[in-house]
Amino acid sequence: MKTIVILGKNGMLGKRMFDFFIKNENYKIFSFSKNELDITDFLKVQNTLKKINPDFLINCTAYTKVDEAENNRELAFLINSKSVLNLAKICSELNTKFVHFSTDYVFSGKNKDGYCENNEDLNPLNIYGKSKLKGEKYIQEISEKSNLEYYIIRTSWLFDKIGNNFVNTILKLAKNKKELNIINDQFGSPTYTLDLINFTNYLILKNYSSGIYHFSNSGCISWYNFAKKICEINNINIKINPVSSNFFKTEAKRPKYSYLIDTKTDFTHRVWNDALIENFIS
Ligand SMILES: NC(=O)c1ccc[n+]([C@@H]2O[C@H](COP(=O)([O-])OP(=O)(O)OC[C@H]3O[C@@H](n4cnc5c(N)ncnc54)[C@H](OP(=O)(O)O)[C@@H]3O)[C@@H](O)[C@H]2O)c1
Repeated sequence: MKTIVILGKNGMLGKRMFDFFIKNENYKIFSFSKNELDITDFLKVQNTLKKINPDFLINCTAYTKVDEAENNRELAFLINSKSVLNLAKICSELNTKFVHFSTDYVFSGKNKDGYCENNEDLNPLNIYGKSKLKGEKYIQEISEKSNLEYYIIRTSWLFDKIGNNFVNTILKLAKNKKELNIINDQFGSPTYTLDLINFTNYLILKNYSSGIYHFSNSGCISWYNFAKKICEINNINIKINPVSSNFFKTEAKRPKYSYLIDTKTDFTHRVWNDALIENFIS
């Protein structure tokens, strides 16, 4: 039986990750919330992981407040970079495979045709993206110096029934507003957490080699089109106006195009609107 440690079990992805793996009898699962194990407490993390000595560490923690990160640079880098370095070092010492999640925001977003795993346009527009990219680099550095095995899985526009995400925000806003203004000049791929988890499990089961992987549902749309579909599926009759990014003053800049392309696996990426329907009926 293999042992898995899941960090960040109260987050959107972390909660779903726990629910998925706990049902699998082939794995023994240990999971921790931020209160139980703060990843910035390097020594405690090291002692805890040493005691468990897991086969896999699945890190679902992150500082994910994209706008607040602009004024909380140190904390964003502490959680998304330095703590990730510490996790990578511990995994290397323990021979634990490190599964980590990153983001489309590591790219500048200039590439209309999308981004493959080896695309070198790594010029994040915001602190969140910079801190996540630094975390990626640290993992790769440790892997080059040691026997660390890892998956860095970049994903985008996560949605689920639970958690803070665009789908839930639109449903909430639609209850209280007469019309919505939604950005129509940023394009990406919505990703259902459960599909991302199946992809993660697929990498593990098929024993893919260490490296960066891209996972999102297939199809590339604007936030405006995403919002329209969310309302349509839920029979919400509300006027939605397409607006440009300049309409909303946000602290953080966001990439215009952030379509992620998976060139490394033969996993089937289902289209985002099928996954969205499942999110509502499941
Ligand atoms: N959501 C998206 O659209 C999206 C897109 C691309 C990539 N990603 C990546 O996907 C992963 C999962 O994201 P998510 O949406 O599930 O994020 P989330 O819902 O914000 O969950 C992150 C979790 O990390 C925990 N955490 C924060 N600081 C911590 C610390 N110091 N020690 C331990 N735990 C800590 C948070 O706890 P508290 O809530 O108590 O702070 C929260 O439970 C992240 O790596 C994220 O960068 C997400």
